[in-house]
Amino acid sequence: MSKLINNTFFVTTAISYVNGKPHLGHAYEAIACDVLARYKRLSNINTFFLTGTDEHGEKNERSAIKEGLSPKEFTKINSDHFEEMTKYLNISNDFFIRTSSDKHHLASKSLWNKLKANNEIYLDKYGGWYSIIDETFINDDEIKDGPNNSKVGPSGDNLEWVEEPSYFFRLSKWTEKLLNFYEENPNFIQPKSRKNEVINFVKQGLNDLSISRKRLKWGIKVPDDNEHVMYVWLDALTNYLTAIGFPDESDNNFKSFWPANYHVIGKDIVRFHAVYWPAFLMAANIEPPKSIFCHGFLNIDGLKMSKSLGNVLSPEELVNEYGLDQLRYFLLREVPFGQDGNFSHKQIVQRINNDLANDLGNLAQRVLSFVNKNCLAQVPEYSEVTQLDYKFISNFESLFGKTNNLINNNLEFHNVLAEIWSCISLANQYIDEQAPWKLKNNDVNRMNTVIYILICCIKYVSILLQPFMPNSCSLLLDQISVKDNNRNFNELDNFFSIIPGTKLPKPVGIFPRFSD
Ligand code: MSP
Repeated sequence: MSKLINNTFFVTTAISYVNGKPHLGHAYEAIACDVLARYKRLSNINTFFLTGTDEHGEKNERSAIKEGLSPKEFTKINSDHFEEMTKYLNISNDFFIRTSSDKHHLASKSLWNKLKANNEIYLDKYGGWYSIIDETFINDDEIKDGPNNSKVGPSGDNLEWVEEPSYFFRLSKWTEKLLNFYEENPNFIQPKSRKNEVINFVKQGLNDLSISRKRLKWGIKVPDDNEHVMYVWLDALTNYLTAIGFPDESDNNFKSFWPANYHVIGKDIVRFHAVYWPAFLMAANIEPPKSIFCHGFLNIDGLKMSKSLGNVLSPEELVNEYGLDQLRYFLLREVPFGQDGNFSHKQIVQRINNDLANDLGNLAQRVLSFVNKNCLAQVPEYSEVTQLDYKFISNFESLFGKTNNLINNNLEFHNVLAEIWSCISLANQYIDEQAPWKLKNNDVNRMNTVIYILICCIKYVSILLQPFMPNSCSLLLDQISVKDNNRNFNELDNFFSIIPGTKLPKPVGIFPRFSD
């Protein structure tokens, strides 16, 4: 079964554990997906964007006990923090999923039943070293010896020996099928470095996977065996189906949006998404997603974000300190998507002052205050457009094609912004060279043409930057009186789309400088 309507796009974030409040890493992922979803909507693509919280499993249960709360109360409190984050980051998700919801329990049980009916599940016994931080049994080759005969996992935590009856998924039989699948779908795992990592892992051969826990209470009960709850990753991954109507495969959302175009995740959870998930789905006769995109990790001043270092940054505080669109811009401009990156006060201040205040802010302010003072506060009439003007304008006319390629091929957000900024620099150069303040005295027609062209440039970049900085671009487009229904990417087809004579309001600065 394939999507019924092709002009659709489904993007998801990972769903976050609710053992604490959101941090900058969660915000980064949500913002990147938001930019992608907004970009697609502005391209007239019917888009569904999903985010939410992963509430079962041992990690969440233990954190609840520590706080003296029931898992239900505890997960609700923290899930609310994540939902609030979507509001203060201006995230345009279409749905916020909670895995503790009835709807999700039903979907997970249904997926289990499909696997069971296809003879993909059997009951046996399992013993192994378990990492609570990573919610997974750890393979022998990843276990290190710790003090006093303890065992340490890849995330540095002490592992626990767990032995219990368990249901197993026949993952081993999917080894060859997965390798074929990766070969037939070369864009399934992105970027390439991650793909090689996954293929090498699968090539070593896969073991059957324990998919239930007997000693755990907080989870989704295994159908027909109340003594077990499902392994949290099987339950968590199913969220991507729940949100679009599964198990009702005739649901319009399911028919339109599955298979997902992108599951965007961090590099630490690639195996679950790129190995287990397509195997579960193929085993249940459901098409796997089209692509798993793994972004890198954000460090703070060069150090890993961790509670023990006390450097876990709250996205809410960062928004209050630097401004929302400033933070959104910084994260996607500074860090090549797919690679690790760094957050520092100095770096974000540089981006705010150089890129936003000096380059974009200044361009808008120079042009619009000039119009206000010298062009009767309205878009001037243009007359003769020179060869040189056309050459300059051609940089804008080819910009959208470039950004489309960069987004569609590899989610290269940082290069999209770099391309837009090279046009902004050209526009600043153009205004310096054309010097409309001089033309005012000797060639008003030429002055009007130059200013008209510059207003069109501001319109072009403000439309294209909307996914990254929705609030600021909306203000910029207000300042050049672009109507709401003229703000989508169709408008980019015609550079000269602004109507001369349009009244413009008195401009106000949108990108203030940051001073400590
Ligand atoms: N609950 C699982 C995901 C289940 S998806 C079916 C989980 N949750 S998490 O809260 O630990 O992480 C949520 C997302 O945030 C993951 O994609 C993770 O990689 C990402 N990040 C966590 N820390 C991060 C950084 N320091 N930097 C960037 N992203 C990071 O894993």
